[in-house]
Amino acid sequence: MEEMLAQGPLAGRKIVLGVTGGIAAYKAVELTSRLRKAGAEVHVIMTRAAQDFVTELTFREISGQAVVTSMWDKVPTHNVEHIALANLADLLLVAPATANFLAKAAAGLADDMLTTTLLATKAPVFLAPAMNTNMYENPVTQKNLRELAARGFHIIEPASGHLACGVTGKGRLPEPADIARQVEAFFAKARDLLGRKVLVTAGGTREPLDPVRYLGNRSTGRMGYAIAQEAAARGADVVLVSAPSALPVPPGVRCVHVETAREMREAVLREFDDADVVIKAAAVADYRPKIVAKNKIKKSEGEFTLVLERNPDILLELGQKKRQQVLVGFAAETTKLEEYARGKLAKKNLDFIVANDVSRPDAGFAVDTNCAKLFMRDGTVCDCPLSSKAELAGVILDHVRACLS
Ligand code: PMT
Repeated sequence: MEEMLAQGPLAGRKIVLGVTGGIAAYKAVELTSRLRKAGAEVHVIMTRAAQDFVTELTFREISGQAVVTSMWDKVPTHNVEHIALANLADLLLVAPATANFLAKAAAGLADDMLTTTLLATKAPVFLAPAMNTNMYENPVTQKNLRELAARGFHIIEPASGHLACGVTGKGRLPEPADIARQVEAFFAKARDLLGRKVLVTAGGTREPLDPVRYLGNRSTGRMGYAIAQEAAARGADVVLVSAPSALPVPPGVRCVHVETAREMREAVLREFDDADVVIKAAAVADYRPKIVAKNKIKKSEGEFTLVLERNPDILLELGQKKRQQVLVGFAAETTKLEEYARGKLAKKNLDFIVANDVSRPDAGFAVDTNCAKLFMRDGTVCDCPLSSKAELAGVILDHVRACLS
């Protein structure tokens, strides 16, 4: 068997391939064949609609495995239970992913075997949308895609070209070779942080004013959580020191919850000595109220003056203590991005700094996307165009990896 001879990053990987009901379902047959030839064990789940485009028999022959076509199938090789494939998967790939499937996935529905597997799996997920251009560009589909990307799913960009529905535009399923290459690249770098301890901070600190009020900022934690998730997926032992955030802790990540800058400093210092990498994506308050009222402050006529005092600069302190650690800071700027970022890079003794222009509506605080410039200690600059925070996290960790070696 060819797959037994394959030696590349896909050799021995268990890929669950979800096929949904779009005309591009036929391309999933070639994709199955390519993944198998590269050494992967491919288990196909077809939705009801997919079976109107391609037969189950075709996938069974090409994959060499039983194909799941309903919740009530007998899957002889995997102890029949509805989450068997979710547990078995090293990676779940859905290609093509229709607009209907994306909507169900974003809503968390589990009304067939594919959506159930998606909800139950802890494996990395790749989604390859393919549909009519108008459906793809519809704000609802775009919102669903952003939400899925924010959950850490890898979205494979559809290609542009002539579509089966007669229009020309974006929405084509990329060629099976391209999809297979992306999955292969993922596994190639998948474990490149194995054995490394990565400490990430996220979210915006809250500095209490009285028992019911605090000074805070707009950070949601999305950037830091995306980095923690990506580092864990790449094999690192990840500690996330998080200021309050509504996000779920990514699988495999140890989270220390904190509230104030001083609590964050303590938690970070506790984890710092044996860390290999520290990435400070948190928005830490530079000042805190000098006096925290014991009881709720009552309103009175006239002005109210609040006296603030300085918080410790955690990153500055880490830069002074740094030994083997790769130290990465963020710079959230609204003006003079390069000048301020380079200043922080030098002053805080960092290996590199991720500078984001937070005056843009699509970058920085409380959005799923970001664009940044990475200023390296050796003077080089890496320009990262607008992408999902998950993608930017991947680029940041590629640079961390380079600093480690
Ligand atoms: O959480 P999201 O909604 O996804 O938003 C992401 C983000 C905009 C918060 C993130 O991309 C970001 O830019 N984080 C850093 C925000 C910030 O506080 O930047 P700064 O330029 O003020 O601080 C520079 C660096 O020093 C940062 O790494 C910061 O963590 C650190 N710092 C700052 C002050 C302080 N007292 N202690 C620190 O360690």
